[in-house]
Amino acid sequence: MSEKWAAKNIPNLSGKVFTVTGANSGIGFETAKEFARKGVKNILASRNLDKAEKASVKIEKEIPDTAVEIMLFDLASLDSINSFATEFKKKYDHLDVLVNNAGIMMVPYQKTALSFL
Ligand SMILES: NC(=O)c1ccc[n+]([C@@H]2O[C@H](COP(=O)([O-])OP(=O)(O)OC[C@H]3O[C@@H](n4cnc5c(N)ncnc54)[C@H](OP(=O)(O)O)[C@@H]3O)[C@@H](O)[C@H]2O)c1
Repeated sequence: MSEKWAAKNIPNLSGKVFTVTGANSGIGFETAKEFARKGVKNILASRNLDKAEKASVKIEKEIPDTAVEIMLFDLASLDSINSFATEFKKKYDHLDVLVNNAGIMMVPYQKTALSFL
């Protein structure tokens, strides 16, 4: 029988630039943490900078040789998404992986803010 996949099977990803959306908690947090363990430069794309700061401290405490970056990003606002992309492009010339994790379920109907269009 083949071995079950586990995070330890992730290969070395040193030098790669990844962005995980919604990494303050849950699946996104664990994903960013395991990538950090494998050498990824993580950018946590978060709508709540206080929560993101706490998440980054937890990751850096567990994996001391990593440096997590936080950038403001609210999927409910196209202005915010646009600003994120603009800021990202000022700092980095490429992105290796985008993990589109942020999301919520079972919420009241709401429209995305569209002001920059
Ligand atoms: N857990 C499950 O069983 C399950 C099943 C099916 C699908 N999923 C999906 O998997 C993903 C992660 O789930 P999870 O259980 O880990 O959820 P979670 O712990 O609630 O984490 C969701 C993350 O998404 C962020 N987020 C929500 N709306 C956002 C927005 N408008 N802009 C930016 N960030 C936003 C939250 O930010 P804040 O910290 O600011 O709230 C949080 O960091 C979600 O997309 C969820 O719908 C989960």
